[in-house]
Amino acid sequence: MCGIIGHLGKYNNLKIGIDALKRLEYRGYDSAGLAAFNAEKKDIFSLKTVGRISNLEEKFSKSPIFGNPFILHTRWATTGRVTEANAHPHWDCKKNIYIVHNGIIENYRTLKDKLLAMGHKFSSDTDTEVVSHLIEYFFKGNLEEATRKALKLIKGTYALLIISREDPQKIVAARLSSPLIIGIKDKDYFIASDYNAIIPYAKKVINLEDNEIATITPGNFFILKEREPEELDLKLEEAQKGKFSHFMLKEIFEEPEAIRNSISGRLLPEEGLAKLGGLEEVKDKLKEIERMIIIGCGTARYAGLVGEYMLEEYAGIPVEVDVGSEFRYRKPIINEKTAVLSISQSGETADTLAALREAKRKGALALGITNVVGSTQTRETDAGIYNHVGPEIGVASTKVFISQLTILALLTMYLGRQREMSLVTGRRISQELQKLPGLAETILKQDKQIQELAKKYSQFRNFFVLGRKYNYPIAMEGALKLKEVAYLIHAESYPGGEMKHGPIALIDENFPSVAICPSDSVYEKMLNAIEEAKSRNGKILAVATEGNEDIKKIADDVIYIPKTLEMLTPILTTIPLHLFAAYIGLELGLDIDKPRNLAKSVTVE
Ligand code: F6R
Repeated sequence: MCGIIGHLGKYNNLKIGIDALKRLEYRGYDSAGLAAFNAEKKDIFSLKTVGRISNLEEKFSKSPIFGNPFILHTRWATTGRVTEANAHPHWDCKKNIYIVHNGIIENYRTLKDKLLAMGHKFSSDTDTEVVSHLIEYFFKGNLEEATRKALKLIKGTYALLIISREDPQKIVAARLSSPLIIGIKDKDYFIASDYNAIIPYAKKVINLEDNEIATITPGNFFILKEREPEELDLKLEEAQKGKFSHFMLKEIFEEPEAIRNSISGRLLPEEGLAKLGGLEEVKDKLKEIERMIIIGCGTARYAGLVGEYMLEEYAGIPVEVDVGSEFRYRKPIINEKTAVLSISQSGETADTLAALREAKRKGALALGITNVVGSTQTRETDAGIYNHVGPEIGVASTKVFISQLTILALLTMYLGRQREMSLVTGRRISQELQKLPGLAETILKQDKQIQELAKKYSQFRNFFVLGRKYNYPIAMEGALKLKEVAYLIHAESYPGGEMKHGPIALIDENFPSVAICPSDSVYEKMLNAIEEAKSRNGKILAVATEGNEDIKKIADDVIYIPKTLEMLTPILTTIPLHLFAAYIGLELGLDIDKPRNLAKSVTVE
C-alpha cells in the first residue's frame, strides 16, 4: 500500500515531489517522508512525519529542503509500529545511503542480527532498514554495484529507490514483485510506484521488470537485468538453526511468527476487512466468482480443505478441493465465474502447476498462495498472496502450512465481506486473528510435556489421528507428518464419525488414537468416537481446549490449546501435532529434516 516518488533532473524544489506524493494518497498510508541531496552542502537532508502528507508539507514549509536527486515515500506500517523513526527514508550508520522501499524483506531478522553483530546501529524497527545497512556494507564508492550485491542477500519483495551522498549524481531503482515506473520527459526522470503520480512529468514511461536494477544519472539511465547468481564473500543468508538441533523444530517454533507475518499489514480491524494487495487487480472479478476450486499437493491440499470449510461457512462460496495429480486428468467443469486457487509452498510443484494450467486453459481466474517470490506459480497466476514467512528448510512443511491456513482465513474475510459477511463477523475474525500469534506461543510453552508424550507413544507402530469438521484436515496433516518424519510408524487419519464404519476393527491396546477435540460445534460428536475407541482398549491422546477438565476422564493424555473461533482452531491444533511428530521422529533416531525418500520441491509428475 506504500507509495514511492523519486526525481533526478532539473527540479530542486521538493514541493513538486510532495505534490506527486499526494497523487498516491488514495492508496492509504500512515506516515510519510522525504530526502534530498543538497549539492552546495554536499549532504543529504531528510524530513519525516506520522500521519497525513499535509503534516509533512507543514514541516517542509517550516524547514524547507532543496536538492536533487530526491526521494519521497508514504508508508503503510507492516514491520514496526507507526512512528516517525519507522517512516521512510531509512539510512545507514554513516548517513550516506538513503532508501525508500515498498514490499517486505522476509529474512530481515537474520540479516539484522548479523549486521548488529558486525556493529551496525539501527534507528528503526523496520525490515527496510537492513537494506540501507547491507548496501553500506558493500559500498565502495559505486551505489549500483553495492545495491546489486546487497539485493542478492535479500528474500522478499521490493520496489526500492536509493540515493547516496558519496555517489550523489544517481538514483538507483530496483524491483521485485512490487511495481516501479520510470517516467521520462527530456532530461528529467521521475520514478514512481504508480503511473498516476507522475503523469504530468512523463512523456514516455518504462515499466521496470522483476529483478531489474535501473541506474539513473543526469541525462541518462541504464537497466541491468540481475539474474545470474554470484558468489559473495559474506554468507549473510546462510540458513541458521540457531539454538535448535533441527530446522524442523526451529520452523515449528517460528509458527507464531508465521501467523504474525501472514497477517502483518493485511487487517483493517475496525472495518472488519482484510487488505490483500496481491488481489487488488482482480478485485472486481472476484466479486463475480460463483465457485472456487482449490488445488494443491500433500500438506498444501490439507490447507485447502480447511479453506473449504472457512469459505463455504463464512463467504458462501461453493468450494471443491483436489490434489493436483488427480485434477489434471479429470474433466473439471469450469467457466469464467470459477476461480482456481493454487496453494504451493515452493510454487514449483509439477502436479499443482499442471492442474493450474489446465484450469486456466478452461477459462478459470487463476489465483495462488505461495511462499517463494518469483516462483513459476506466481508468474502463471492472475493474482496471488505471498506467505512472507521466510525460507522453509525442513523438508516437511510446517510454518508455511500454518501461514497457508492464516491466509485462507484472510481470504475468507476478503471474499466474505465482498458478499454477505457482516461488519460484526468481519471484526470478530479480525480480532481473533490478531490474538492468534500470542495464543500459539502459549502452546509452544508445553514443549517439554509434548516431548515426554512423544517418548511415551514412540513405542507404538500404528496410529489413528481423528478429527471432525475444521479439524478433519488437521487429522490428515497430523497423520502425514507422522508418516513423513517418524516413518517407522504408520498413521492414518479419519473423520471421527467414520470409525464405526470399518476402521474401528483395528483398535486394540497397541493401536492408539490422537483425537483432536477442541470445544467446538462438533465436540460432542468427537466424544462419541473417543468413547468407541476407548471401549476397545485403544489409548487416547486428546488435543482439547483449555478448561475442559472432563476430557481427562476418558483420554489417557491431554494437550491443551487456548480458546479461539472455531474456524481458527486448526491453526492452533496443528502446532502440537507438528511438535509431536517431530519429537517421535527424533525419539526413533530419524533425520526429521531430511526424511528418507522425500524431496522439498517435487518438480516431476
Ligand atoms: C508435507 C509436505 C508435502 C508438500 C507437497 C507440496 O510436509 O511438505 O506434502 O506439501 O509436496 O509442496 P508445495 O507446497 O511446495 O507445492
